[in-house]
Amino acid sequence: MKQVMVVYGTRPEAIKVAPVIESLRRSPDFDAKVTVTAQHRILLDQVHALFGIQPDHDLDVLTTHQSLADITVRVVERLCPVLEQEQPDAVLVQGDTTTAFAGALAAFYHQIPVVHLEAGLRTEDRYAPFPEEINRRLAAQLATIHLAPTVQARGNLLREGIDPARVVVTGNTVIDALHWAVALGAGYEDRALADLDDTARPVLLVTAHRRESWAGGMDAIGQALADLARQEPELLMVLPLHPNPVVRAAILPWVSGMDSVRLVEPLGYGAFARLMHRAHLILTDSGGIQEEGPSLGKPVLVMRDTTERPEAVSAGTARLVGTDCDRIVKQVRHLLHDRAAYGSMANAVNPYGDGRAADRVVSAIGHWMGLCASPEEFVASTV
Ligand code: UD1
Ligand code: UDP
Repeated sequence: MKQVMVVYGTRPEAIKVAPVIESLRRSPDFDAKVTVTAQHRILLDQVHALFGIQPDHDLDVLTTHQSLADITVRVVERLCPVLEQEQPDAVLVQGDTTTAFAGALAAFYHQIPVVHLEAGLRTEDRYAPFPEEINRRLAAQLATIHLAPTVQARGNLLREGIDPARVVVTGNTVIDALHWAVALGAGYEDRALADLDDTARPVLLVTAHRRESWAGGMDAIGQALADLARQEPELLMVLPLHPNPVVRAAILPWVSGMDSVRLVEPLGYGAFARLMHRAHLILTDSGGIQEEGPSLGKPVLVMRDTTERPEAVSAGTARLVGTDCDRIVKQVRHLLHDRAAYGSMANAVNPYGDGRAADRVVSAIGHWMGLCASPEEFVASTV
């Protein structure tokens, strides 16, 4: 058996590797070891509870107001002894967090091959998103196998000179996780959402956390929500707050105490999947939600100036609105009042996956190790 160590640290990574861990554990060829950096704590533990994952190693790196240097240094320092102890045949990292980059770097220092899941996403702007665009480029330099979610992502890698033989298009494992979470039929968890299915009011689901928006953007987002509350009294806004104190300090003063803004703690993934399903519209700067919203047929307004996920924009279900207060308000109101505009965005499309990505991931690793045939690659039916 070959040992694959899955290294991750934040909520979105946990959601996206959970189906892969499950698939590795089902395979007779692999011994899956789970090492969490715990760059996130509450958000990570929520996902573990839902998917029933118990890490083999927990590096416990999280600190309040952690800097990028804090995370990088602590991950490399604490992961190296674990790699020496376990000596895995491969290390799998996911996406573009600082955990993913530092995890890949630590594996490289031990000459352990790196499998990069969700490889090849690019905005071509090194500061947007920050620091993720550079994290994923560095991960690509360190990786031996590149598992691209889409054909476009593979194209980005090939343009950078990555050997095509080392790239496999798998689809994004987030869609596997989403199918699973929707099927759970979970409740909303939070009492503030108890009446959500009993009201006909349109729900605007909002999430925000990006570092490049800390200086000004977050404030504008808070102001936009306050303006929307005044201008659209029918609208019910639900805002699961990221635990980051910087985000809370910027947004809360604008919306605290407003009747039509429901502020809730981060929801478990089952509850959040239900909330996405209930929502009329989604307003977010999240990466993962840009992939999930289209799959559920929900228009996604993206509070960023650029995106590494252009497939949903091309399919017409996502639109970039930036972090300008007036623009956000205008775009939300447009979709609330123009039925045709709303209808043209509210199409269920699956450019990111078909729910079978995790098995392709495991086959791609197995093929590279000489254990099995290569998987049939993911082909999006709609883009
Ligand atoms: C991180 C990732 C980002 C990813 C996001 C997903 C980096 C640099 N950033 O950003 O790519 O999109 O996760 O959510 O890798 N905190 C807690 N408990 C938690 C989680 C966070 O208290 O469970 C607080 C802490 O005060 C922490 C702060 O949030 O210092 C920021 O966390 P951090 O991981 O640095 O940044 P995110 O914005 O969460
Ligand atoms: N999510 C969740 N509960 C919440 C908010 C988000 O489970 O309260 C899920 C969401 O469905 C998506 C992931 O967390 O799968 C996105 O996380 P985040 O926006 O923090 O990170 P990003 O995707 O931007 O890296």
